[in-house]
Amino acid sequence: METRTDEIADGIYRFSTFVPDAGIAFDQFLVDAEEPLLFHTGMRALFPLVSAAVARVTAVERLRWISFGHYEADECGAMNDWMEVAPHAEVAHTALGVMVSVGDQALRPPRPLVDDEVLDLGGKRVRHLATPHVPHGWDAGVMFEETTGTLFCGDLFTALGDGPASTDADIVGPALEAEAVFGATCLTPTTASTIRRLADLAPTTLALMHGPAYTGDGAGALSALADGYAALLADASA
Ligand SMILES: [Fe+2]
Ligand SMILES: [Fe+2]
Repeated sequence: METRTDEIADGIYRFSTFVPDAGIAFDQFLVDAEEPLLFHTGMRALFPLVSAAVARVTAVERLRWISFGHYEADECGAMNDWMEVAPHAEVAHTALGVMVSVGDQALRPPRPLVDDEVLDLGGKRVRHLATPHVPHGWDAGVMFEETTGTLFCGDLFTALGDGPASTDADIVGPALEAEAVFGATCLTPTTASTIRRLADLAPTTLALMHGPAYTGDGAGALSALADGYAALLADASA
């Protein structure tokens, strides 16, 4: 396996490792700023590959923030490995996630984030949005980097296979195909409205955890995904 590095927006780096056994790629993102932030840590098994790739962009001990979408191994499995090499790094996660899991599991006390809270990273600003159970996980949340219009949307739009680093092609069709395979999304009456709230941010880049970064009409893609899930829920409820 190898980890590919691409700058997908100004100062936003994507590290992508395709894992053949899983059939999907696992992507982490570095927001390069005065206080660098890593979004997703990857699993512990990926730490040697991913940390070497990040080190080619910036010194890993500079990392100030570690954040992720929800408490699962691919999102945050290596958080303590990262904190060991980055002594000033703090984990920032939803207040609920800190209470339920991360406060117990993290090497150092995490920083709970409330909905709509902004972290000023110095040159970059990330807004946290709590998205309980979207796409899954009670503690789920996303981050929006305001200077580049990049939404770190985690498992939303998960696609099968190993695609390009970025795309302006349709990502909703591949996401619904992957959903039919994995059934990973928690379909509830509030799934679509939670995703439509993200569309209101009008992101120009969607940084997917499992798939190419999308550049273009992020609001349109999110609205179409919300419509797709609403239809799935209606079918399942019929
Ligand atoms: Fe997940
Ligand atoms: Fe994931």
